Amino acid sequence: MKPILDKKYIKNALKKAKKILLSGELVIFPTETVYGIGANATNLNAIQKIYEIKKRPYNNPLICHFQNLQKIQNDFEINEVAYKLADFFWPGPLTLILKKKKSSTISFNVSNNNELVGCRIPNHPIAGKLLKSIPFPIAAPSANISTKLSSTNINNLDNELKNNIFFIDGGDSYHGLESTVINVSSNYPTILRYGSITVEQLKKIIPNINFIKKNNLTHLAPGQQKKHYSPNIPIRINVKKVLEGEVLLNFGKNNLKSKLFELNLSPSRNLKEAGKNLYNFLHQLDKYEYKGIAVAPIPNHNLGKTINDRLKRAISNDS
Ligand code: TXA
Ligand code: MG
Repeated sequence: MKPILDKKYIKNALKKAKKILLSGELVIFPTETVYGIGANATNLNAIQKIYEIKKRPYNNPLICHFQNLQKIQNDFEINEVAYKLADFFWPGPLTLILKKKKSSTISFNVSNNNELVGCRIPNHPIAGKLLKSIPFPIAAPSANISTKLSSTNINNLDNELKNNIFFIDGGDSYHGLESTVINVSSNYPTILRYGSITVEQLKKIIPNINFIKKNNLTHLAPGQQKKHYSPNIPIRINVKKVLEGEVLLNFGKNNLKSKLFELNLSPSRNLKEAGKNLYNFLHQLDKYEYKGIAVAPIPNHNLGKTINDRLKRAISNDS
């Protein structure tokens, strides 16, 4: 199905989305990373509906989306490192964990009653216009059922979400991988989740940035459960051979072959292209008629780190 991207459709869809958000209901909208399922971040009941429909544990906090830095400043304390990153990467696929001001009206259930909240300014014309049209930030996780694959277009949406929530079709997401999450609330900036902005890009701005140690994950990044981003059928990664009954998610040129079906994330080994295709292709291969998905090795640098992070979580049995 071709996405409907004509101006009249977008204008009407934005008008309707605004009305729905103002009434405390949910809207699925496009961002440059993946689609989000959003609600008024200052409305406790509206936020509650996100956790319910996604079957998301309440200890996995949501990201708040803002129109601009000015709006974030009203609600949050921003230190030097945060300003530096904001200046370089916002609007864009960066989420900063910031400390709420006492006066903030962001609902406590956005962040499981924690004063640290993930904030980002999306770089997408539809998300931007939607945020501009309303007087509050939008709390929005990825538009998928908890632990399942994120969606980078409307066709990938789970029927439960698609049939019950108003959505704006903005075509394919530009990056296709979620935002990079960084805790900047202390003097030691730490990456909590690999994302569309690479460690290599970040190190140019903050040379001493670290990735969070595994044993600290539950405390600081409660949403970083091992199992996440998973298809319904089994998945194997770094394969040397495709087994009988498996479909193949390939990368580059090699001797791997599936007798059934295969898709190639990037025949020219371009990691940006691979990132953009990852979820969309996994959705297409995730069919119960197949025994499983075999994934070719992906180089572990730049966006490859993010892709491998998602693939490792996709194969995990922990929840
Ligand atoms: O690109 C994205 O980030 C997309 C689009 C829609 O903006 N959103 C997204 O949200 O991926 P979600 O909820 O699927 O993932 C948010 C991640 C989770 O791993 C969560 O644990 C972490 O960010 N996070 C959010 N708030 C946090 C907080 N206060 N402290 C620690 N981690 C937080
Ligand atoms: Mg998610």
